[in-house]
Amino acid sequence: MKNKIKIALIGYGKMGKEIDALCKTSEVFDVVSVSYKNKEDGLDLKGIAKADIAVDFTSKDIVLKNIEEIAKLGKNLVVGTTGWNEDLEKVKKIVEKNKIGLVYSPNFSVGVNIFFKMIDFSAKLFEKFPNYDVYGLEVHHKAKLDSPSGTALKIAGKVKGLNFTSIRSGRNPGFHEVVFDSVADGITLSHQAYSRVGFAKGALIAAEFIKNKKGVYSFEELFK
Ligand SMILES: NC(=O)c1ccc[n+]([C@@H]2O[C@H](COP(=O)([O-])OP(=O)(O)OC[C@H]3O[C@@H](n4cnc5c(N)ncnc54)[C@H](OP(=O)(O)O)[C@@H]3O)[C@@H](O)[C@H]2O)c1
Repeated sequence: MKNKIKIALIGYGKMGKEIDALCKTSEVFDVVSVSYKNKEDGLDLKGIAKADIAVDFTSKDIVLKNIEEIAKLGKNLVVGTTGWNEDLEKVKKIVEKNKIGLVYSPNFSVGVNIFFKMIDFSAKLFEKFPNYDVYGLEVHHKAKLDSPSGTALKIAGKVKGLNFTSIRSGRNPGFHEVVFDSVADGITLSHQAYSRVGFAKGALIAAEFIKNKKGVYSFEELFK
């Protein structure tokens, strides 16, 4: 049997558990360490040292500290935690200094990354037609802390004049909609995640990608 890729889970909430469940039936990945099973827990540095890749789905409050500590161990990272956009330059310096690899995304779903491409394409077309207004809506379950979502911020960065309205209620794992609207007609593009499994699968694709690489990559770059 070939050697499995050893994963250290950083965060064991909804996403950490989803990734763990996939790894339990995987012939490629093995979870060898879990940090922050709850807020009282710290980083399992000994366990992370034995892993190939650390996968962080925690909180914007601790993600930068986690990246710093894990980089010092020389371990590559997949970062799914959202809400730290303003720290990207800092993270690039940490990655460079410690000669590691890191891949990040506000949304590891393959479908959403295809959706990003559709938005890029549409934005170019609508640039030539200023009679169309654009607006966005995103809906997430009530436990989601950041608002607008990291995915909405990423989409907003692609289309001039696009702002999102955010709803936090119920159990929706993630809905994003962009509407181009004129007096004559409207075009709606939307993505609905049905569960968290798409995010988890994408995070593991990212883990395999970053295993032997150095430098910072956005997951979107894998779709070029
Ligand atoms: N990139 C993507 O595709 C994607 C998809 C879904 C979610 N996300 C993002 O991933 C992150 C985690 O999402 P989730 O739904 O898994 O959240 P979650 O269910 O709240 O789990 C977060 C985990 O991190 C721990 N944690 C949070 N804050 C902490 C702190 N200050 N100190 C120590 N431990 C802490 C939690 O411990 P407790 O259980 O004790 O709270 C839990 O184990 C969020 O930023 C979310 O927006 C990204």
